[in-house]
Amino acid sequence: MNYQEVFEKHIWQPYTQHAEYGDYSPLFVERAEGIKLFDREGNFYYDTISSWWCNLLGHRHPVITEALERQLSCLDHTLFAGIVHPPALELVERLSSRMPAHLTRYFFSDNGSTAIEVALKMSLQYWKMRGEDRSLFVFLDHGYHGDTIGAMSVSGVSQFNRYFRQSFFPAKMIPSPADDLERAIEELDRLCQREGDRVSAVLIEPLLQGAGGMRFYSPRFLSELERLRKIWGFHVICDEIAVGFWRLGSFLAHTQSELQPDFVCLSKALTNGMLPLALTITREEIYREFLGDYGERTFFHGHTYTANPLACACACATLDVLDGMGDPEREVRRIEAHLNELGEELVSEFPRLTHVANAGLIWRAEVEGANRREMLSIYRSGLRHRILVRPLGNIIYLFLPLISSNKELKFIGEMLKITLKETVA
Ligand SMILES: Cc1ncc(COP(=O)(O)O)c(C=O)c1O
Repeated sequence: MNYQEVFEKHIWQPYTQHAEYGDYSPLFVERAEGIKLFDREGNFYYDTISSWWCNLLGHRHPVITEALERQLSCLDHTLFAGIVHPPALELVERLSSRMPAHLTRYFFSDNGSTAIEVALKMSLQYWKMRGEDRSLFVFLDHGYHGDTIGAMSVSGVSQFNRYFRQSFFPAKMIPSPADDLERAIEELDRLCQREGDRVSAVLIEPLLQGAGGMRFYSPRFLSELERLRKIWGFHVICDEIAVGFWRLGSFLAHTQSELQPDFVCLSKALTNGMLPLALTITREEIYREFLGDYGERTFFHGHTYTANPLACACACATLDVLDGMGDPEREVRRIEAHLNELGEELVSEFPRLTHVANAGLIWRAEVEGANRREMLSIYRSGLRHRILVRPLGNIIYLFLPLISSNKELKFIGEMLKITLKETVA
């Protein structure tokens, strides 16, 4: 088969401008191992963005692969209504010892956007069933929660959702705490004064706005949000889809603040990127509001692949590997120290890099004045030097796997320097 021909004739990729493929070609990845991807010629590329932020522990991790094979030998798939199975039960029991104690109920789905939709719908239905007029959602500028209509309605990345705005439901945006912490707190406070009792839920990505440009912000915003949550009684939906699983040094990022969210959404690293799975986890009292008459109080939402047993087995094995690491936080700090040092070197060497920041496994910088063509040239040059530097607008970033060794980190840092020398020096 001529792969290139089939690709050109039939494939339509996400977040991809196919017209740009005149200048470059897609990377044909055939194999992956550890934190490396391999093309058909056997060339390797470091997966420096963890395959869209999923691959925490390296590709085809043997513990996870074996768990998947074991699960395949007994149960592949079944519906998850009226039926439960051991991998789902094992997973929630194991997660429950890591989750904040007030979050006890687990609703499964199969991707991050859907985990958010579930939280939005649960929140709305909860208030309706209680006879309270709360239908407004509040979100942050530059926030990103997915690409379905509901998730887009509460996302503040304008380039992604501008064609669909007329179809969005009522939601209000407040400034990003990553731009101006005090202003974000003030505006949220002001909005609450005006209509806090109409708010169904406030959505946040804790401590880091990912797709909005890897924008870090202070835990103080979350603690202030908690103060307002207690006063006004709205829900907080905490989107840990990107930053959960130790990315910022704690199993869940929001636990670095006072925040006690009503919903936590997980996906991506939940299965180490092996199979699609997501969770919306909520309070017992929210779950209890849904008990009663079938027609009146049931949560009518479900997807065919809800709690797929193979995906649940991968998620359990991901926890096995994390348990076996002893202290994942120590590993995060080791990588963070490398990224601190790398950031300092890059800032002094490349004046066009601005707003350079890092925390945990994530590093980012803006390339001042760079247009799309220039950002694409960074990406292409990165590939020539065996790293994936997939830009977000004019931002370059690393979102590293937790298992990156010191030797690998050094290589990645050197290659990033060479890439930047070739393109933005
Ligand atoms: C914070 C956050 N929420 C939600 C999503 C959507 O997840 P998915 O792409 O699985 O729908 C993403 C995806 O990048 C994300 O980073």
